[in-house]
Amino acid sequence: MDLTISSLLFFGLLISGALATSPCASPSDDSDLSIVHIYGKCSPFNPPKPESWVNTVLDMASKDPERVEYLSTLVAQKTTSVPIAPGQQTINIGNYVVRVKIGTPGQLMYMVLDTSNDEAWVPCSGCVGCSTTTFLPNTSSTYGSLDCSMPQCTQVRGFQCPTTGSGGCFFNQSYGGDSSFSATLIKDSLTLGTDVVPNYAFGCISAVSGKSIPPQGLLGLGRGPLSLLSQTGSLYSGVFSYCLPSFRSYYFSGSLKLGPVGQPKSIRTTPLLRNPRRPSLYYVNLTGISVGRVLVPVDPKFLAFDPSTGAGTIMDSGTVITRFMEPLYNAIRDEFRKQVPGPFSSLGAFDTCFTASNEAVAPVVTFHFPGVDLKLPLENSLIHSSSGSLACLAMAAAPSNVNSVLNVIANLQQQNLRIMYDLTNSRIGIARELCN
Ligand SMILES: *[C@@H]1O[C@H](CO)[C@@H](O)[C@H](O)[C@H]1NC(C)=O
Ligand SMILES: *[C@@H]1O[C@H](CO)[C@@H](O)[C@H](O)[C@H]1NC(C)=O
Ligand SMILES: *[C@@H]1O[C@H](CO)[C@@H](O)[C@H](O)[C@H]1NC(C)=O
Repeated sequence: MDLTISSLLFFGLLISGALATSPCASPSDDSDLSIVHIYGKCSPFNPPKPESWVNTVLDMASKDPERVEYLSTLVAQKTTSVPIAPGQQTINIGNYVVRVKIGTPGQLMYMVLDTSNDEAWVPCSGCVGCSTTTFLPNTSSTYGSLDCSMPQCTQVRGFQCPTTGSGGCFFNQSYGGDSSFSATLIKDSLTLGTDVVPNYAFGCISAVSGKSIPPQGLLGLGRGPLSLLSQTGSLYSGVFSYCLPSFRSYYFSGSLKLGPVGQPKSIRTTPLLRNPRRPSLYYVNLTGISVGRVLVPVDPKFLAFDPSTGAGTIMDSGTVITRFMEPLYNAIRDEFRKQVPGPFSSLGAFDTCFTASNEAVAPVVTFHFPGVDLKLPLENSLIHSSSGSLACLAMAAAPSNVNSVLNVIANLQQQNLRIMYDLTNSRIGIARELCN
């Protein structure tokens, strides 16, 4: 079964929707929020326009190994305490941002979406090492502090309470593999589109170190206790979806849809798997990969879900290109190379680049899950060199260290797909949608 029928439906929807709004307009009047690429035209961060798209992707993808290692460290109840020092803040993340308001009256922040984190956090006034846009708690009429004795505090990764007496809920967290921050858990209203979530618990950052902390904070869309879904309960009924715009669509935005209303009615779904050791992560049951008509022969242990080791496959919005455990990647690549005329060369993280004129014979890559066969559109499996003369298989091997038991399905492979996370029914839906 493929996704052609739903894709037709969505092209229809898209045409009616696209005429109504300009790409960088303010969010529409319901829970449908725009998602823009941090390097895109609609990004508030005014990044230098990259001279070539492939170099941008390669630059962003060079941070993936750290991201994958970081994801491997997200083990339950692990308390990390890392030194914090003032750092020069630069944009150094390959990610998508969404426009939200915090406090009353609402203060506008462009927060990075992260499906593998639970907590939200924003830089607060006085933050050491943060950029100039900070949240000012003392100008918000709905701001409140959260004492260490509150249950939310013990749910924060890396929390630390004073050994005696009460006090603020402090925490230090690492992020992205090379950065860290220290923050205090506070609560205030969070406005998403027209929805107001009162008393939302999130981190107010006082110091950052490293270059990977999103400049205006992060909205955790994971599945653990402090995530957006957990804190909004009945408002969104444990359902959200996003469509990430193409990396190449400099001007355009995708969307984040919160709650069951407006989600695709006919969408193929596959069960979500729960790993108690990594409660934030969205594990799926990747059972095989086909290249063209060939089901790639692989040792099942590289696909197996194993809660005791954390092994398996996750969907992640913060990794740029899909990473497979090395033997698995090598098997996919070798099959791909059999079906495309060589010679093959490397470009950054990509080791299977070939003359772009042979693209017409490049096989389709399909990810198999129970209930869903995801045939990657060519744009999601190949990437072109800046001159256009080369096409490369846009995937890579995960870093081959001891912790690397994860396969990560990343942004580039999720472009122009609607990915629906339904925690109530413990499933993920995937449908083609041209969202940019
Ligand atoms: C966070 O790190 C800083 C700097 O090392 C330290 O002063 C502070 O106590 C730490 N806070 C927590 C909650 O661990
Ligand atoms: C809020 O706090 C910041 C620094 O923490 C201070 O500069 C500012 O004057 C305060 N604003 C008000 C309205 O108190
Ligand atoms: C993954 O799917 C396969 C095939 O449907 C099934 O046999 C296996 O039990 C599933 N694994 C998990 C962890 O659900």
